[in-house]
Amino acid sequence: MNHTSFIQQLPKVELHLHIEGSLEPEMMFELAQRNHIALPYDSPQAVKEAYQFHNLQSFLDIYYQGANVLIHEQDFYDLTWAYLLRCQQDNVIHTEIFFDPQTHTERGIAFDTVVNGIYRALQDGEKQLGISSQLIMCFLRHLDEDSAFATLELALPHKDKIVGVGLDSSELGHPPEKFQRVFEKALAEGFLTVAHAGEEGPVSNIYNSLSLLKTTRIDHGVRCVDDPQLVQQLAEQRIPLTVCPLSNLKLKVFETMDEHNIVELLRQGLCVTINSDDPSYFGGYMTDNFLAVANAHSMTKQELAQFTLNAIEASFVDEAHKQRMVDKVVAALSSAE
Ligand code: HPA
Ligand code: ZN
Repeated sequence: MNHTSFIQQLPKVELHLHIEGSLEPEMMFELAQRNHIALPYDSPQAVKEAYQFHNLQSFLDIYYQGANVLIHEQDFYDLTWAYLLRCQQDNVIHTEIFFDPQTHTERGIAFDTVVNGIYRALQDGEKQLGISSQLIMCFLRHLDEDSAFATLELALPHKDKIVGVGLDSSELGHPPEKFQRVFEKALAEGFLTVAHAGEEGPVSNIYNSLSLLKTTRIDHGVRCVDDPQLVQQLAEQRIPLTVCPLSNLKLKVFETMDEHNIVELLRQGLCVTINSDDPSYFGGYMTDNFLAVANAHSMTKQELAQFTLNAIEASFVDEAHKQRMVDKVVAALSSAE
């Protein structure tokens, strides 16, 4: 079996996906029409052509604008359902997705509208597609601490639907320490914590996410290589990094996939995983991300499968669920021989 077929049929687990970043231009147009919202583009094709980014901020500006078409609970449902159908195509068996409530509450959309639409689709995904999932709420780090506290308050009645909290948006100038007190409250309320760190920002953001925000995973984290001692700590403690290869290329974190450090980090024993981040904006879902890495770096099937095994290890589900997923990966490996 060649690498392309192997990757296609390999069971996958996604741990870093912003649901708003799965909004395809076609659906953006459909929702704009349904909700009578004017778009600054003539066609879905024109939207795609506008997706030329030179850093994280240039992407975020367009990404927040795109989310304006999401108004009703059914819109959030349709968005999430479309993503789950893509998961099914890519043989994603489990996904832990982010949502950014403040992107919506800041425009007057109720928190409950957002979370109920997303969650109902995730439940249907489990029932109808057999894809298990978890939901993680991210705070926008360019907004202030008060706004994050208010958002956490809105999430408390939805604890049964939300497993953890995270931190995303502009990393430069908004370090993890800005949200230490909010994360303390979230931890006390029983949420797990994660944070984007070391995507564009310095290694101190990785250290401080771990020590001050008590995060159990780091989203991105690829800049850890600036500090060999940190790399050693991440390897020894098996602290997961949710790496997003195509995102890193699009946002110029790496110039080429050949220069990407994910395979080197895998071989150094880090718990690195492959994820799609904002697939509609960055040109690919899970299989595309695996293929992009495998086409640039020569790897064995065992190494490719290790990305999924790492993601299972890093996932927020119980041991029995993890074991069932490991069994699927082992079966895929043996049938590929
Ligand atoms: N980094 C920071 N914020 C984000 C990202 C990202 O990659 N995607 C969506 N929001
Ligand atoms: Zn992200």
